Amino acid sequence: MCGIVGYIGPNSATPRLIAGLRKLEYRGYDSSGIALVAPVNGNNEILLRREVGKIDALQRELDTHPLTADATVGIGHTRWATHGVPSVRNAHPHLSRNGRIAVVHNGIIDNYQELRAQLTARGFEFRSETDTEVLAHLIELNSADTLVDSVRAALRHVQGTFGIAVVSADFPDEMIVARRGSPIVIGSNGTETLVASDVAPIVPYTTSVTFLDDGDIAILTPGRFEIRSLSNASVSREPTSVDWDPGAAEKGGFEHFMLKEIFEQPEALENCLRGRLIEADGAAKLSGLRLEPRDIASLSNLVITACGTSYYAGLHGSYAFEQLAGIPARIEQAAEFRYRNPIVSPDTGVIAISQSGETADTLAAVREAARKGALVCSICNVVGSTIAREAGRGIYLHAGPEIGVASTKAFLCQVAVLNMMALLFGRTRRLSNAEGICIVRAMQQLPNLVRSVLAQNDRICAIAEKIAGCTDAFYIGRGYMYPAALEGALKLKEISYLHAEGYHAAELKHGPIALLDEHVPVIACAPSIPGHDKTMGNIQECRARKAPVIVIASEGDESVSAFTEDVIRIPACHEIVAAIPVVVAEQLLAYHVARLRGEPIDQPRNLAKSVTVE
Ligand code: F6R
Repeated sequence: MCGIVGYIGPNSATPRLIAGLRKLEYRGYDSSGIALVAPVNGNNEILLRREVGKIDALQRELDTHPLTADATVGIGHTRWATHGVPSVRNAHPHLSRNGRIAVVHNGIIDNYQELRAQLTARGFEFRSETDTEVLAHLIELNSADTLVDSVRAALRHVQGTFGIAVVSADFPDEMIVARRGSPIVIGSNGTETLVASDVAPIVPYTTSVTFLDDGDIAILTPGRFEIRSLSNASVSREPTSVDWDPGAAEKGGFEHFMLKEIFEQPEALENCLRGRLIEADGAAKLSGLRLEPRDIASLSNLVITACGTSYYAGLHGSYAFEQLAGIPARIEQAAEFRYRNPIVSPDTGVIAISQSGETADTLAAVREAARKGALVCSICNVVGSTIAREAGRGIYLHAGPEIGVASTKAFLCQVAVLNMMALLFGRTRRLSNAEGICIVRAMQQLPNLVRSVLAQNDRICAIAEKIAGCTDAFYIGRGYMYPAALEGALKLKEISYLHAEGYHAAELKHGPIALLDEHVPVIACAPSIPGHDKTMGNIQECRARKAPVIVIASEGDESVSAFTEDVIRIPACHEIVAAIPVVVAEQLLAYHVARLRGEPIDQPRNLAKSVTVE
């Protein structure tokens, strides 16, 4: 989704803005642009370059029509279209009527049509279809003695969400940024100050970053920044130290970030599990939850809320909580949770799962749950993200930066964290020490379970060749393999654009089986865990309709050979962890299908890494 970057310092802004925009590419975008405050014939002006497509296209435009290297202040943006098609005129930055103010914006201005009508009535002409352009004009209309006062006055008229960065040719030595609902991060190394919508463009300069809260506005100057509130009160925000090696966000020899991240999963799981499993007690230690045993014992039910891949991890979690802790647990899609008026009470625990920690619907669900008095906690990957901060208590995945748009290592770590949480709750409620130890040992196997699937990469690639030409596919599973089937189908459809559906294995015959024939492969998640025999029966039903079958089965299970030669093996393991190696096999299958079809794997069309609009 849209990305913001801004630079103010002693050095040329253009290469720094482009480098920053490249770090934001993974968020998904369709156009990009930069605006500089530049000296032209002794006067300052705003210079603008925008392009549709990838940053390379913007770079080519800059090579053809270079901007002065003397400009040391500028803002940049990657746009993911919401209002108006991807086009140069809709790309950010947007300029005010007099061309002296430039704005980049993430979020959605809900009352933009009303504001647009008011501004049009006052003679402002609109050059784009975006909601953002009203901001540039509003700032000009509300001109005050200082840029921060102009921006503050303009924002008073705005309903909706924003993260913005503003520069003005009349105030060449500063930049104003503000936040309501869309993340804004600031970092300064003493001579240069940067702003961005996440930490990636900032970490090459400093690992000490400051996250703005909703209602904050900040004045950036070279090497300094000051945060105030939109109502002009002084505000102090603690900086966060980012434990992020900038090299971790490079491809490191892999063809795509997604493949690199799939292969990083054993290490990601090791980092996620480190220090959290206590074998002797058969328990888990999750200090970020800040829950005493009596707090856990007093909860009567759990609601897990999330979107997309995180939702499927949550579905797995709901099974694990009920199995290990005997506590009623259900998963609810976050957009449903926020608008459906769900029943939650002080003895309801609400667990919000979000890799990015910025998903708009999940954030709104957190706020709704808190409003209703539930005990809220989060499971996030991005440290300092809005959901993590607003939930107040929670568990970080420690999966490292996930750049590929399709979530891989975050999903695995979400499942691992949910299992650990279920174990912690189980040991507080009904699980014996011996049963707990058995779960801990199963969890400790995880990195090696994943390694054994990664070792089959070539074989999975060969299987992918057989289905790469199909137009439809089904994934089936039951029990813990049901969320795994849903996740496998999502991975395939989002990066290969091949139509795929995940179904409960038992549900297939209630309708979708009508679609099966020799052209529609079925990927069956069928390791030797409870439900295996029933799934075998369902595979038989698929074969009877001539559907080619790929089975993900346990080592040593020869029963599957009767149906297919296309078998991917996972080592024998406890049912609570089986989804993890199974999903790794699905990730590799989806990756190779997409690669064979020549799709842009790391940035699939229409998708965004961080979905900050509802
Ligand atoms: C799919 C994928 C998405 C996200 C979803 C929620 O591979 O990544 O479905 O899981 O947009 O994102 P987060 O977890 O950041 O809240």
